[in-house]
Amino acid sequence: MNKVAPLLQLQGISIAPKNTPARLLVKQVSFSIAPGETTCVVGESGSGKSLTALSIMGLLSKQLCLTSGQVLFNDGHSGEQDLSKLDQAALRKIRGAKIAMIFQEPMTSLNPVLTVGYQIGESLTTHLGLKGEALQTKIASLLSMVGIPENRANSYPDELSGGQRQRVMIAMSIACEPCLLIADEPTTALDVTVQAQILTLLDELKTRMNMGMLFITHDFGVVADIADQVVVMFRGEIVEAGSKQQVLQHPQHPYTKALLACVPDAEGKKPLKPIDYAWLAESQTQVQAQRKVPS
Ligand SMILES: Nc1ncnc2c1ncn2[C@@H]1O[C@H](COP(=O)(O)OP(=O)(O)OP(=O)(O)O)[C@@H](O)[C@H]1O
Ligand SMILES: [Mg+2]
Repeated sequence: MNKVAPLLQLQGISIAPKNTPARLLVKQVSFSIAPGETTCVVGESGSGKSLTALSIMGLLSKQLCLTSGQVLFNDGHSGEQDLSKLDQAALRKIRGAKIAMIFQEPMTSLNPVLTVGYQIGESLTTHLGLKGEALQTKIASLLSMVGIPENRANSYPDELSGGQRQRVMIAMSIACEPCLLIADEPTTALDVTVQAQILTLLDELKTRMNMGMLFITHDFGVVADIADQVVVMFRGEIVEAGSKQQVLQHPQHPYTKALLACVPDAEGKKPLKPIDYAWLAESQTQVQAQRKVPS
């Protein structure tokens, strides 16, 4: 259970294509994130992790919609707001300022014809009105915070390595000191050493800024490193949620057990077991049937 009042509470979020609203891609997802805590959402490809994250910020594609649920956000200053009720203009003021997102592939999120310094500066000007020398000083301090030499502010994205580009994305996302950072597989495209550096950096920033973090991954090694809370998704639904210790050491659901069985041990000895989906689907049906039985 979270110790402090939640920053974000998803309550019964369901997502479906607009033209087939009965075909739910995400079903009744509920979890919360507290300030200074990392909630990891894990699950295999297609389990609904990204759609859940995108729905928080009103960034679902035009073919999709929320069919139920609330996205309650409370930064501790402006009272509780249901983000799912806000229009795009109101959401734009929150995006980048109070809630920031980092995506998997930095090259698709960075503009190739603008310097990284300019791109880091954009949200500082938009949200905080910074200009001139104050702006340049802030850009330099953000770059050094993420471990990039200040003179790289004048570089273009293709002049940086993959790890450096992802650091630039982190500098952009934390520029306005958001209270919530949503990171969707931000290290998947990077090699393990750089991945470890980025995870350490995000963890440090989370602690330093008391940020809440929603971290999406399919990698239990990452979960073991940075999670406080863990949410496991399977076919659009949460099948298990709890503290990192509960979920990793005492998994209850067959899907979590199957995912954990796929993780090699420290010496890489454990053979990777393929997941038996027919059996899992059957177990899931049984779990749902049990839920419907009145206690
Ligand atoms: N615009 C869309 N229209 C219809 N279906 C979609 C759309 N976007 C995603 N989906 C479907 O919704 C499901 C969940 O997708 P989502 O991107 O959330 O998965 P994910 O858990 O993030 O997977 P990955 O680990 O591969 O990123 C998938 O079955 C996907 O095909
Ligand atoms: Mg995804």
